[in-house]
Formats: sequence, structure tokens, C-alpha cells
Amino acid sequence: MSATDTSEPNRRDFLYVATGMAGVVGAGALAWPFIDQMRPDASTLAASSIEVDVSSVTPGMSLTVKWRGKPVFIRNRTPEEIKAAQEVPLAELKDPVARNANIAADAPANDIDRTAGEGKENWMVMVGVCTHLGCVPLGQQGDFGGWFCPCHGSHYDTAGRIRKGPAPENLHIPNFQFISDTTIRVG
Ligand code: FES
Repeated sequence: MSATDTSEPNRRDFLYVATGMAGVVGAGALAWPFIDQMRPDASTLAASSIEVDVSSVTPGMSLTVKWRGKPVFIRNRTPEEIKAAQEVPLAELKDPVARNANIAADAPANDIDRTAGEGKENWMVMVGVCTHLGCVPLGQQGDFGGWFCPCHGSHYDTAGRIRKGPAPENLHIPNFQFISDTTIRVG
């Protein structure tokens, strides 16, 4: 993947947002008879999980979906991004905690524990909210090639770990799981 492919993600990101939302809408349509029967209020719907088709998200591509009112970043990392994150010693991390809702609350922020796990370490799923004051960081920017929050200059690495700037914590990882090879359920 060339530098060009990863430094100009906006157009592709937009397209994949559209793809992802189509998947979400599809899931919602299937679930409708059940939902209609239950008659939940709007807050219940907002809290529900979403299923995202990531079959089109090849390495170097990202997708942003909305979940519980927040953006969730889904990225299929390149081998270079994985390697860069794996090579960072824990001692260099500003926040040494994984911040991953799927594992122990005090698990260290090793690269593997920031990802979808063994065999899927290319996949990052993170709440796209800066842990400083809540702006939405930009992907594949900043000093570490991960995410950059322009509000006050927080730089996150390719595992979404805060490396520089005022943000106190790594980008948070929500509950999620692969329910098939190409579908991620968030929530
Ligand atoms: S909100 Fe991101 S750096 Fe302040």
C-alpha cells in the first residue's frame, strides 16, 4: 500500500461509510418484525448493537459507522501499520492500558490487545472520540500515522494509542466481535 493510498482516505472512507450503513440498514430491516413486536422506545433502539459488513474494507481502508450516537472507526490495517504498532515498547506509551471492553480492564496496551485478536490483528475497532475533550480524530494523520485530533493536537498511533498531546487515554475499544468472516457486531 503506497503512502498515497493511506494519506488520502476521505473519499474512500465516505464510500465505505455508505456501504457500511447499507449493511446496517439491511440488518435493521430484517430485525423490524421483532422490533415492531417489542415496541421499544427510541432510547432502546439507540442502545442496540449494530452489524457491519466489512467485506469491502481491504487493508489500508477504513470505515466509520455510527453506534449509540458516536462514530466508531473500523480499520483494516496494512502490514506496515501492524508492524509499527507491534514494535512500540510498552514503556513508551503514555497510557499503558488497553482500554478494550472485550478483555480485562487492566490489560496492558500491547498491540494484539488493541485489535480483534490473534489472526485478526489487522482489524481495529474503536470509538472515534478523542479522550481529551471529545473531538473526532482524523484517520491516518499525525506524527505516528494513526489518528490525529486537530482540536488540541493529540496524536494516536496505528493501534489508536495516545502518543503525544493532551489526550490522557488510548482511543476506547467498544464491545465487538466478528460474527462471520466479514461481519462485525458492535455492542
Ligand atoms: S479534543 Fe482531541 S486533543 Fe483536545
